[in-house]
Amino acid sequence: MKVFVTGAAGFIGSNFVRLLLAQRPDVQVVAYDLLTYAGNLENLTAELQDPRLTFIKGDIADRDAAYAATDGVDAIVNFAAESHVDRSILDSTPFVRTNVVGTLVLLDVVKARGIKRFLQISTDEVYGSLGSTGLFTEETPITPNSPYSASKAGGDLLVRAYAHTHGLPTLIMRSSNAYGPYQFPEKLIPLMISNAFAGKPLPVYGDGMQVRDWVHVEDFASAVLAVLERGRVGEVYNVGGGNELPNLDVVHSIVRLCGASESLIQYVPDRPGHDRRYAMDHSKITAELGWTPSRVFTKGLEETVAWYRANAQWVARVRSGDYQAYYDSQYAARLAAATASR
Ligand code: NAD
Ligand code: TYD
Repeated sequence: MKVFVTGAAGFIGSNFVRLLLAQRPDVQVVAYDLLTYAGNLENLTAELQDPRLTFIKGDIADRDAAYAATDGVDAIVNFAAESHVDRSILDSTPFVRTNVVGTLVLLDVVKARGIKRFLQISTDEVYGSLGSTGLFTEETPITPNSPYSASKAGGDLLVRAYAHTHGLPTLIMRSSNAYGPYQFPEKLIPLMISNAFAGKPLPVYGDGMQVRDWVHVEDFASAVLAVLERGRVGEVYNVGGGNELPNLDVVHSIVRLCGASESLIQYVPDRPGHDRRYAMDHSKITAELGWTPSRVFTKGLEETVAWYRANAQWVARVRSGDYQAYYDSQYAARLAAATASR
């Protein structure tokens, strides 16, 4: 099977590519990524040496490039996205371009090429915010509150419409907050870990009592593989970690694991429109595909802190922007050599 993985150089995409190559010896992977600020080829250092993987730098919203890159592809997994809520509050335009237009372009590619499976990676945030009780199910109405979640909902609705109107073989997976190695240090957990190690302030939005349902990225990736291979076409599958925690608890655990001082915690003005609570009912994927989250949060967080401790250079390069030179150092000479030999 030849799988086209968009956003493959990002946090979850790179973890998924690693799992796919490790668990499916016969797979061919086309890793397609625009390498925005969040895309980092260092996340795929070992995988880039694997002859079963081809990397293409490209934009999912570029129709010609996306079509050209999908020759012979059997399935698409679409991770590519602008993914950070705070950035979407500052400027929503790139979110609509990638998350809505990019998804539309990929659906047109699936239609034009007759690709057999399209899996859209989406988020619990499309369901809006929960009160203090209840869980999101696949039937919960789509009521997004941030420009990020609205753009993801737009992508999901186009997937639904293309399946309904054109009969495309689509699936949607919606997950809660992921954490683990290779996450860009702008999201809560890696930001707090890297700031704690650096002795920098730990900015807690509002009262810090917002609740997220944390799932380890390797559990997320195994759910993607299960839905890709065995999910029923046309269905939506919710994924969650069963680890609901207020942000403040997570931050206190990070401070302790990093050996930092509680005095670094600083309460800062809240995020506008901040969703109070997310929590997933993942009983459908468990019943149909046998998937359950395997990583206990306390253990997963400990391992994540250890990973960031051991990969201080990765964090330093990401923070300084030096990682963006990696593509050139990896590929500029090779591409020049290939052109010269033609
Ligand atoms: P990320 O920001 O780490 O990575 C996104 C990747 O997409 C980057 O490599 C980036 O270069 C690439 N990209 C962006 N625009 C592109 C474009 N136009 N064309 C091609 N590539 C492009 O994000 P992530 O955390 O790995 O999230 C992956 C997916 O999972 C997203 O669709 C996100 O909405 C979804 N999701 C994430 C979480 C989470 O907690 N991180 C939870 C639920 C769902
Ligand atoms: P984030 O990692 O941005 O994920 P999302 O908003 O998509 O759930 O944020 C997780 C939670 O942490 C969210 O309630 C906002 C909060 N948060 C902070 O309190 N401080 C921070 O610096 C960040 C980035 C997030």
